[in-house]
Amino acid sequence: MPTLDELAFAAEHDIGRTRAFFPILAALGNRWAAERPFAGCVVGANLHLTTLTAAFLRELSLGGARVVVSASNPGTTDAGTVHLLRGGGIEVYTGGDMEDRHAQVLDHGPTWLIDTGFDLVTSALGRDPGTVQGAAVLSRTGIDRLRARTEPPPFPILNALDGRLRDALENKQGLGEAVWQSVTELTGILLSGRRAAIIGYGPVGRGLAAWARAAGMTVQVVETDPVRALFAHYDGMTTGTLDDVLKRAQIVVTATGRRGAVTAESLAHARDGVILLNAGTGGDEIDVQGIQRAADGVDHIGEAVVRYTLPSGHRATILGHGHPINIVLNSGSPESVLLQYSLLGLGLEWMIGAGAQPGEVPLPDAVERRAAELALQAIDRVGA
Ligand SMILES: NC(=O)c1ccc[n+]([C@@H]2O[C@H](COP(=O)([O-])OP(=O)(O)OC[C@H]3O[C@@H](n4cnc5c(N)ncnc54)[C@H](O)[C@@H]3O)[C@@H](O)[C@H]2O)c1
Repeated sequence: MPTLDELAFAAEHDIGRTRAFFPILAALGNRWAAERPFAGCVVGANLHLTTLTAAFLRELSLGGARVVVSASNPGTTDAGTVHLLRGGGIEVYTGGDMEDRHAQVLDHGPTWLIDTGFDLVTSALGRDPGTVQGAAVLSRTGIDRLRARTEPPPFPILNALDGRLRDALENKQGLGEAVWQSVTELTGILLSGRRAAIIGYGPVGRGLAAWARAAGMTVQVVETDPVRALFAHYDGMTTGTLDDVLKRAQIVVTATGRRGAVTAESLAHARDGVILLNAGTGGDEIDVQGIQRAADGVDHIGEAVVRYTLPSGHRATILGHGHPINIVLNSGSPESVLLQYSLLGLGLEWMIGAGAQPGEVPLPDAVERRAAELALQAIDRVGA
């Protein structure tokens, strides 16, 4: 078992690699260190605690922010990253349930919040947001939850997702590459020729499907929204119902942002040996607990590879315990995540200076253009 210091060393090494090949955050951090745009700010962040998150939070601190963090999902929390952040003076809360962790962050009186899925913002709104001047939300699930509120929020909330760069962030080069790389890493199978099912055909599902096709897989799509099902059809994918598609699929990936997209009941139709993984939100798109309860046998093939024997006698293997697989494994190129963090940091910097109105705030085009310029410079510097 590696020690925490060894894990932190590995995390530091990983950050060094991202700086060497795509130094976008370093460019931002150098300017922030000189200009200190976050001086006096307390940033409360609820994020997946990966090495890329650590790289971003450290640059934010250089800009003068005091950063306090909670783990948005214990299943995606990297112990080395946590140790590294703590060693650098950033307070990190990983214990207890989600609400305990949020309460610990909010007790520090954050002036700005960064949230993966709107959970920290919801906790802040539930307890009189007091010191909070604004927030930034990163994920589709978070934006959906912001829009579903009947009461408008009392402070501005930056939609750090839906700008023009989104296609570059959630596309086949970003998530597609990362998710399929995780499958080969965990199982050793060759993807070409396999039959994949993609559940949910939003930008994430679409990217996964495109990459799967490019890798030589046969792709079927399950999508409840007829408009997006039609997109899938015109993209050349076969579409069908979950029951139908599961009869043939060898690898099933959820990308719906909804709980229980695949349950023990749905697996009654699955073929023997099916592999299941989640590329969407949280840990409940695949109902892992329900499948565990229904299973007649469990075989732990690897740390993140568990095979269940279903009541039908067929076997189903779940990767990453149903948590977003690319985040669990920190797989794929870090570029798209680093670009998203740059966009977030620039958006936060803009919001602090701009005095935005309460409610959902779109990403200004100037922020997107700046992030894209930095990305192009980072690519150029390494390609030269
Ligand atoms: N793993 C990652 O690194 C990563 C990165 C970005 C986004 N995400 C998450 O991925 C999820 C999907 O993102 P998106 O932008 O594509 O979202 P989206 O909401 O635009 O698309 C989801 C699609 O799934 C469909 N859907 C919902 N329930 C379904 C069901 N039971 N069966 C079939 N289809 C169903 C919806 O109609 C929708 O078209 C979100 O939760 C997002 O937060 C994960």
